[in-house]
Formats: sequence, structure tokens, C-alpha cells
Amino acid sequence: MNIPYTFDLAPSTWIPSRYDNHIIRKLSSMKGQYYDTQAFDRLLAQSDPLLYEVYELSRPSVAGELLHGISIIHPGKVGNEYYMTKGHFHAVLDTAELYYCLGGNGMMVMETPEGDWAVEGFTAGKTLYIPPRWAHRSVNVGDLDLALLFIYPGHAGHDYGTIERQGFRKLVLDEGGEARVVDNPRWVHLEQIKSLLL
Ligand code: F6R
Ligand code: ZN
Repeated sequence: MNIPYTFDLAPSTWIPSRYDNHIIRKLSSMKGQYYDTQAFDRLLAQSDPLLYEVYELSRPSVAGELLHGISIIHPGKVGNEYYMTKGHFHAVLDTAELYYCLGGNGMMVMETPEGDWAVEGFTAGKTLYIPPRWAHRSVNVGDLDLALLFIYPGHAGHDYGTIERQGFRKLVLDEGGEARVVDNPRWVHLEQIKSLLL
């Protein structure tokens, strides 16, 4: 029904008291996303761990609406690369997103179609505004769940394919117990390739 509503977030689990969709993403859905493909294959041969979950409240996918929910990225690593979300551009590039960190320790890796990049840290209480045009991937660099509240325009949609093909320009790796942002050796700038072909 189209009436105002509230919801509560359970302390420590951050699971909302109401939601419509519960999306779970396991390792098997992240093929090609982790740079250490051998570590990926080894881990997948043993088990298919749950990397992250999203609790969505459903609203119509139209411009006047704000889609919102909670994403929870569990702690862990594939090789020395932390558990992370798939990451995406919004299908309507000119749409922004706001994130609020409820708990945990993380980073948001971002980039534009032009190849500009940015990485911001998350600790409880940190708010991140992602302007239009920036692809975004949440990374859990801590030992606890990383819980994030997100809000974005109803008509934004998602483009996962671009990141699946080109990756993110930056990786976040555990180097001796420290989270380090490094170049992704396999990153390809599809926009640049396209312009060379034209
Ligand atoms: C929506 C958004 C978040 C993510 C969620 C999972 O635009 O950015 O709700 O969808 O954090 O990440 P993905 O969608 O990249 O698997
Ligand atoms: Zn988004």
C-alpha cells in the first residue's frame, strides 16, 4: 500500500524488520571477478561460501521513488582479495546513490566510464554520497560483517555487464594484514577500446 512506513534495524545483525526481497550472493556467482582465479577455483571446489546478502524493500522502479535496503558483506577472502559485491554502473548513468555504514569496516571502490577512480573507507556512521556516473563495489576489509544502508532513485536500474567484462580499475588486497588499494592488472578500459575501433 502506498502509505508511509518505518522499519527497524536489528542491532548487530542489521536485518531490517521489514523487507520484500532477500538476495544472497555466493562465491559461484562471482566467476571472473577475483584476480586470483586459482584461489577462486580452489575455494569453490571445497564449498560455495555466502559472500553477501541484500535486504530490499520493494518500491516501483520510477523516477520519483527511492529504492532502499541493507547490504551485508560477510568477512572473508578469496586468496588475498576481500569478499566484495559484484559492483555495477547504474543503467541510467545519471543517477546517484547514498550509502550509510551501520557497522563493520570496509571500502567502496568507484570509477567512471572515463576511467577516473576513487576509494572511500567505511566505518560505523560514515556516510558516502556517490554522484551520478560512478560504478561502485563494496568491499569488507574487516573481521565483522560490513552493513550498509543504501538509497537510490527508482529508475536507476543496474548494468552489471560492463564491470563483468572490464573489472574495476583498482583491487583491494590484504597485504600483511593491511588493506591496500592496488592496480588491477587485468583491467581493460572498454571505452578506450571502443574509441580506438571507431
Ligand atoms: C543498488 C546498490 C546496492 C547494491 C548492493 C549489492 O544500486 O548499489 O543496493 O545492489 O550493495 O551490490 P551488487 O548489486 O553490486 O551486487
Ligand atoms: Zn548502485
